[in-house]
Amino acid sequence: MTIHIGARPGEIAETVLMPGDPLRAEWAAQTFLDDAVCVNRVRGMLGYTGTWRGHRVSIHGSGMGMPSLSIYANELIRDYGAKTLIRIGSCGAMQPHVGLRDIILAMTASSMSTPSRGIFRELNFAPCADWPLLRAAVAATEARGMTPHVGGVYSADVFYDERPDLNELMTRHGILGVEMEAAELYNLAARHDVRALAVLTVSDHLLTHQALPSEDRERSFGEMVEIALTAAFAGEV
Ligand code: HPA
Repeated sequence: MTIHIGARPGEIAETVLMPGDPLRAEWAAQTFLDDAVCVNRVRGMLGYTGTWRGHRVSIHGSGMGMPSLSIYANELIRDYGAKTLIRIGSCGAMQPHVGLRDIILAMTASSMSTPSRGIFRELNFAPCADWPLLRAAVAATEARGMTPHVGGVYSADVFYDERPDLNELMTRHGILGVEMEAAELYNLAARHDVRALAVLTVSDHLLTHQALPSEDRERSFGEMVEIALTAAFAGEV
């Protein structure tokens, strides 16, 4: 047990999918995993472990925003030995050619501040995805008949942003979408030498102000789970 995770030693798999919403972790575990067992309920942050095509997998909520994700990812990596962490979540599109429901694979994640800021201080570290995992996720997305957008995302600190100029700056620099967790996940993966990737679906569009209805969100979420699982175990029998 750690401060925020009630699982016993050995109850978390080396591969962990991390949706923001704990109820989505529950839904994904019940929908996609065999023999899923709930291994964490502390503060309502649900975590499950089961198997997918014979591979052991955990699905654990991250909560919203980098400080929350940082707590869970730190404990999953340092205390439970997680080696592959894949965020599955939604984002707001920042480019005209990116549409609702599209998949974005975050090659890099820019941010204004992260929980790692105090460590890097004057250094602008460039958090990036694990390349073999990213390549496998591209293949997994294409195998489902979709073409992913692969590039940079912006991990914002606030959802209700009073600085629209920052979004505009990100759009001008080719950033594909905005979300709130990937940069810290990539920082932690680099620090602890583990693999990380963020697989995102576009739930809303910052330029057109369109948003996905909730049934579509569920379907898109299921697709991300399958892409993430396929990528995580690509090349393994
Ligand atoms: N901003 C931040 N995070 C998000 C958004 C957004 O517009 N959409 C989905 N996650």
